[in-house]
Amino acid sequence: MANKKLKIGILSAGGDCPGINAAIRGVGKTAIVQYGMEVIGISNGFSGLIDMNTQPLTEDHLSGILTLGGTILGTSRMKPFKPQEGDTVENKPEVIKENYEKLGLDALVCIGGNGTQKTANLLSKEGLNIVGLPKTIDNDVWGTDVTFGFDSAVNIATDAIDRLHTTANSHKRVMVIEVMGHNAGWIALYSGMAAGGDIILLPELDYDMNVVANTLKDRAEKGKAYSIVVVGEGIERPGKKSAARYVAKQIQELTGLETRETILGYIQRGGSPSPADRILATRYGAHAAKLIYEGNFGTMVCLDKGNITSIPLEEVGGKTQLLSPDHSLIEKARNMGVCFGNK
Ligand code: F6P
Repeated sequence: MANKKLKIGILSAGGDCPGINAAIRGVGKTAIVQYGMEVIGISNGFSGLIDMNTQPLTEDHLSGILTLGGTILGTSRMKPFKPQEGDTVENKPEVIKENYEKLGLDALVCIGGNGTQKTANLLSKEGLNIVGLPKTIDNDVWGTDVTFGFDSAVNIATDAIDRLHTTANSHKRVMVIEVMGHNAGWIALYSGMAAGGDIILLPELDYDMNVVANTLKDRAEKGKAYSIVVVGEGIERPGKKSAARYVAKQIQELTGLETRETILGYIQRGGSPSPADRILATRYGAHAAKLIYEGNFGTMVCLDKGNITSIPLEEVGGKTQLLSPDHSLIEKARNMGVCFGNK
C-alpha cells in the first residue's frame, strides 16, 4: 500500500493508432480517481523525456478524449538506445534517467509497439519503474492476444475492401488492395476474410504468382465477373515496387485480366477507435495504473485468453508476433476455397 502521493508519467511512442487516447484516459483517470496519483503527460515519445517536454494531465485534460484518434501527447520513433547521425545529445538513456529523477517520477507508462516495448525493457533494466501498454494496428506485439488499434484498422480495411467489390463488379476487374502490417499479415488475413477476399497474400506464407494467376483465370472461366486480392505490405517480392504494384502488374501480365491496385496506407491508422478498441485500451490503461499502485514494474499489460494480466517486459522485448501458418482462420479459409497463393 503506497503511503505517499505517487507521480506517474505517460508517453506514447512509435506509429500512432486509434485507441491511444482511450488508453491515456484509462491510465490517467484510474490513477487519479482510484489511487490518488499525480499524472503528467510526456510529449512526442521518448524525446519528451530528453527535452523535458511535459504537461500535467488532470481529470479535466483527460475528459473528452476517449473517441479521439491519434494521441494527445504526440509521438515519435526516436530510439534512445540507438545513436543516430546528427544526435546532439550524447548519452540519451543517461539523460532520460536524470530527467525521470528531476521530474520526480515514481513510474513511467510506455504506450507503444514492439520497438517501444524493447526500449521500455532497456529502461527498466536501467532501474526505471516501467509499465508497458501494447498498441499497434499491426497486432504484432509479442506476449498479448491482441493490441489495441488492430480492430479499428481491420474495420477500416474491411470497409475499403467492401467498396472495392462494387467498383470491381461494375468494371469486371481484378482489384488488388495492399494493407499495412509491416512483416505481419494480421490485418490482411482479418480484413481479407471479413470482406470476402478471393486471394489473400500474407508475409508469413510463401506464394507463387502462377498459382495466383491460375486461380484468377479459373474464376474468370467459371463466370466470376471480378476478383479481390488482398495483400499484406510485407510480402516477399523482387524489386522495390510496393506489394500491390508488383502483384497487380504480375496478374495483368500473366492473365491479361484488367487489374487495378489500391494502397490503403495511413487511413488505416487514422480516426476514431472502434468500440472494441476503446474498451480494450481502457482496460489496458486501468490495469497499468493498478500495476503501478502494486509496485509491479518491468511488465507489459497484456490479454491472455481474454483475461487482462501482465507479462515481464524482458519476455517481450525484441520479439514479433507473426501469424502462424497453422492459424485456424487460414485453415477455415482454405477449406472455403480462399487462395493464399500456394497449394
Ligand atoms: O503503425 C504500424 C505501421 O503502420 C506499419 O504497418 C507500417 O509499415 C509503418 O507503421 C509505417 O509507419 P511510419 O511511416 O510512421 O514509419
